[in-house]
Amino acid sequence: MLNVGLLGLGTVGTGIVEIINERRNTITGTSGTDIRIKKILVRNVNKTRNIDTEQLELTDNFEDILNDQEINVIVEVTGDLESSYRYITAALNSGKHVVTANKAVVSKYFGELSALANEKNLAFLYEASVGGGIPVLKPLKEQLELNEITEVQGILNGTCNYILTRMINEGKDYGEVLKIAQELGYAEADPSADVEGHDTLRKLRILATLALQADITEEDILLDGISSINATDVENIRKMDSTVKLIAEARKTDKGFTAIVQPMIVKNSNYFANVNMAFNSIAFKGNNVGELKFYGAGAGKLPTANAVLSDVLDIALGTYRKGNPLGKEDLVNLNESISGQYYLRISVTNDEIRDKVEGITREVLLDGEELAILIEEIRLAEIHELLAGLGLSKGSYFLAKIAD
Ligand SMILES: NC(=O)c1ccc[n+]([C@@H]2O[C@H](COP(=O)([O-])OP(=O)(O)OC[C@H]3O[C@@H](n4cnc5c(N)ncnc54)[C@H](OP(=O)(O)O)[C@@H]3O)[C@@H](O)[C@H]2O)c1
Repeated sequence: MLNVGLLGLGTVGTGIVEIINERRNTITGTSGTDIRIKKILVRNVNKTRNIDTEQLELTDNFEDILNDQEINVIVEVTGDLESSYRYITAALNSGKHVVTANKAVVSKYFGELSALANEKNLAFLYEASVGGGIPVLKPLKEQLELNEITEVQGILNGTCNYILTRMINEGKDYGEVLKIAQELGYAEADPSADVEGHDTLRKLRILATLALQADITEEDILLDGISSINATDVENIRKMDSTVKLIAEARKTDKGFTAIVQPMIVKNSNYFANVNMAFNSIAFKGNNVGELKFYGAGAGKLPTANAVLSDVLDIALGTYRKGNPLGKEDLVNLNESISGQYYLRISVTNDEIRDKVEGITREVLLDGEELAILIEEIRLAEIHELLAGLGLSKGSYFLAKIAD
């Protein structure tokens, strides 16, 4: 019997209870083990919920779960960063396996929690933390034993992808689509973690650290979100027979690594151009297996709960990869060397700005109240220096890499 202490009964927690109830007989048949949710931690036990809680034992005291000797797996789906860190460390220290969907806690404490689980000979699994319902971390860990992974790339945030898809496909304004996304529950009331790219960055931190086998922290990743895109950009990008995506990518070279989250303009024929709405996709390259691509629902109650339960099932079956999956490669951060061709639109124009950008311009797309240009091959750091030198704030321009 696998007794689960479930931390959180919100969107994902509810999905977990629903799937276990619906699939109990099949799960027992496959794993030979009954998976039972013994206790559930919530903030407010009296809250009205979208699920029948009569058969569920709710508590607002984590100690009730921690001290329950029958509970052998903790499933953390609260979303709170510091309290979840405390819950996870306490659970591992008291001999309980841990599964989490919380990218923030995995990203911030990746090394420490992986080492602790390894020391205690316990599972610490987090499939749902990257790509929601897409099973990508388990195949990645498997391929790492046979391959050197040199590159990982992905669309990792459904909110951004939904906004960009509707802007490009329907010519809608950023603010209008963001409002629709909020009404549909795709975007939070405060959307900054998504649209400024922080959520994508945390997922890249996890993916890149695993894939490149080096400690690539949040601070190691260059970040630019999508919040400054406007109707002019949409029009220009459409004329280029292209679309725009928020792409996370990390690459290993002989000398080190690069890691970046940025808007990227991709031709309509490009694979990522067809990953639309709230879907996510991740691709990685191994020296033997070649390129592998994964596609699916990046979030949502049932897909995310499904990914969490795949981890729980691996614990029940004993099929999770033992040992610390983090590598020890000492790679140098080469983000300063990142280069490419870029699209730049600036909302305020004057002669100084025109003069300064002239030297890097390959083609002027628009010169009026706004200035939009294509930039010839250049180091990204040089563009950042130029923009900072002009005193332009992030909201007054939109910069996107043009995919190779
Ligand atoms: N939603 C998705 O599609 C999705 C996709 C991928 C990953 N995730 C990750 O999954 C996690 C959960 O997301 P969610 O959307 O299910 O969140 P949610 O709907 O806000 O639910 C959070 C649940 O946790 C409880 N909770 C929050 N803070 C707590 C604390 N400090 N102590 C005890 N209980 C606490 C809440 O209790 P009350 O009900 O009493 O308020 C609630 O039941 C997050 O880390 C999120 O990033 C979510």
